[in-house]
Amino acid sequence: MTSSVPARSTGPVLESVGIVGAGRIGCALARLATRAGLVVTVAGPGAVDRTAARLALEAPGARAGTLDDAAAADVTILAIPLGRHAELDADALADHLVVDAMNYWWETDGARPDLDDPLSSTSQTVQRHLPRSRVVKALNHASLYELDNLAFPPGHPDRRGAAIAGDGAEDVAVVAALVDALGFDPVPAGPLAEGVRFEPGTEAFGADEDAEELREMLDRFWDSQRGRVLRRARQG
Ligand SMILES: NC(=O)c1ccc[n+]([C@@H]2O[C@H](COP(=O)([O-])OP(=O)(O)OC[C@H]3O[C@@H](n4cnc5c(N)ncnc54)[C@H](OP(=O)(O)O)[C@@H]3O)[C@@H](O)[C@H]2O)c1
Repeated sequence: MTSSVPARSTGPVLESVGIVGAGRIGCALARLATRAGLVVTVAGPGAVDRTAARLALEAPGARAGTLDDAAAADVTILAIPLGRHAELDADALADHLVVDAMNYWWETDGARPDLDDPLSSTSQTVQRHLPRSRVVKALNHASLYELDNLAFPPGHPDRRGAAIAGDGAEDVAVVAALVDALGFDPVPAGPLAEGVRFEPGTEAFGADEDAEELREMLDRFWDSQRGRVLRRARQG
């Protein structure tokens, strides 16, 4: 059962979150963030009214806005199909902390060699599209079920871990505070390049485990079959 207690551990203070994408994950994150007491602004691809109508059903308490409105929040989460990330207006997200919750999902995105490059994590690809944003990868490996049903306050025995990869220590700390507020134990996983350790096809992806077990899964990634393939590619 999901806790309704918006408790959190210590860390940077967050007041607002923007979400780009009002689909399954965007709405699930909006529900969690609203419950955590954050001011939530969600931007869809079209008219604000259309997003507002969806939020009224799926995430009451969150408000609909433009991309600029979502980008004005303390942190902005990207929750659109990864294959459409190039549609994002880099200027609107410039100078902002952006959380990449997206995954390469070929059923949705189609065959996209650019998103399946063994030399790059998909979040590095997103960072290249948003060169003036600070991209941190998080909240991508939890399933919709986990987000909706397995978010718990700090110290709860059933609390799950959530991996975070980013290049700036301060940004990772802010995203850790967000993850914590939403109901998960943050598990730092190194720089953005290391996001490959919790992309689809890894042991950690969809693992639904506590922080300790998630940490062990991340640690043994480079010895996994996928880890060995990526290592060989990176070694040329
Ligand atoms: N489903 C999961 O369990 C899960 C878990 C973690 C992470 N993720 C990742 O989260 C992302 C979204 O997944 P989802 O399951 O929520 O997909 P979804 O239900 O299809 O929702 C995606 C939403 O993004 C909107 N969108 C597309 N381009 C946009 C843009 N440029 N600006 C604003 N909104 C835009 C779509 O609007 P239109 O339909 O109107 O085009 C749609 O409402 C994917 O990358 C996925 O891999 C999914």
